[in-house]
Amino acid sequence: MFRIEGPVRLSGSVRVSGSKNASLPIMAAAILGGGKSCLKAVPRLSDISVCGELLTRLGCKIAREADGRLCIDSTVIDNPVGEYEIVRTMRASICILGPLLARCGRAEVSMPGGCAIGDRPVNLHIRGLQELGAQVHLKNGYIIAEAPNGLKGKDIFMGGPFGSTVLGTANVLMAATLAKGRTVIESAACEPEVADLADCLNKMGAKITGIGSPRLIIEGVSQLHPVEFEVIPDRIEAGTFMVAAAITAGELRLQNCRLNDMMAVIDRLREVGVTVDAEADGCVVARRGPIRPADVTTQPYPGFPTDLQAQFMALLALGEGNSVVIEKVFPDRFMHVAELNRMAANLRKEGPTVIVAGVQKLIAAPVMASDLRASAALVLAGLAAEGTTTVDRVYHIDRGYEKIEERLNPLGAKITRQNV
Ligand code: EPZ
Repeated sequence: MFRIEGPVRLSGSVRVSGSKNASLPIMAAAILGGGKSCLKAVPRLSDISVCGELLTRLGCKIAREADGRLCIDSTVIDNPVGEYEIVRTMRASICILGPLLARCGRAEVSMPGGCAIGDRPVNLHIRGLQELGAQVHLKNGYIIAEAPNGLKGKDIFMGGPFGSTVLGTANVLMAATLAKGRTVIESAACEPEVADLADCLNKMGAKITGIGSPRLIIEGVSQLHPVEFEVIPDRIEAGTFMVAAAITAGELRLQNCRLNDMMAVIDRLREVGVTVDAEADGCVVARRGPIRPADVTTQPYPGFPTDLQAQFMALLALGEGNSVVIEKVFPDRFMHVAELNRMAANLRKEGPTVIVAGVQKLIAAPVMASDLRASAALVLAGLAAEGTTTVDRVYHIDRGYEKIEERLNPLGAKITRQNV
């Protein structure tokens, strides 16, 4: 549990960590290397530890070296199974399906269940792998994918009802690197994390072009090799710090931050009256005037990221007027709405839309974290609210933010972690 005393004004410098959502599929890609791959800038998060455990059970050896690199030795993979026990705690575990299938000709991965942000089906992952020639069936809650004679390249359309799929693209992309012939993934996810994965795969010997575009072209190769690779900075963590500066009327210097990955976020921040000034390795974010209302629609990249919707809603809750937030990626991702209302926000949900009537102040309350980004939003709201907010179940925030209180407190936050 966090106890957060507010309101505070944040100022100072903070370094953005390596990207969690780039690291997870890149760790899975190490399966394809068949040797010891070493990754730089992988954050120290519980989701990363869970992914490490998942890979260990497959047969990999994982170690954090003294210099901070995370090394994965995939020389031996003798148990190509992603167990329910792990997958149910971290849905991203599904991204071992493609590389395991390509490397071993067989993979069993527990079918992920629903979660706090919605249904989250994996039909597009499965369809994409079937298009590459895999036989896929479901048994005892496990997805069993088989391709004893290898995979075959094909033109595949990966779009779904909510646009492209990030981990679905990652899975099919990883599998296609070792398929015979050429694969074209049409309507591929363009997220920087997918591009980072593709860059890493190319460094391992894959032949991928069209990186960062919705059409990925993969010429299959017979094998990949281990790699040394540094993952990109976390644009969602960066965006969370930006909102922290904005909601507290503060000024933060962000280091290790790629603004080019964040154009939609910066556009919305400027709309609400926040300044974002580029620097060599990052930016300075500040708010001096009132928070202006703004409309925000989440979309696949390069649109506004769903992973910053909750944090932005906390900011807009203090806007001088009405804002509208539309969630077009996960239409049920609104668990934070009722909690923010407990802090005297005025939010009304109508289907995949929330109407935000700005209030003059938020008032501290005991609130409950439901998922990673919702908990970040509650911490941000707590920084700005009057009084002592307690946020329960902060293990959610530890999944995606490295020691958040130890990084915010030197900037002026007053957050204490309490064991309950
Ligand atoms: C990734 O999840 C991220 N996770 C999520 O971040 C992020 O919210 C999401 O992409 C969208 O940007 C990781 O990278 C580990 P999707 P992913 O498949 O890949 C539908 C966080 O907080 N869909 O791109 O699982 C789906 O229901 C996490 O860090 C299908 O219909 O998301 C959704 O509406 C949470 N069929 C949309 O596509 C499928 O087979 C996008 O989901 C797959 C997805």
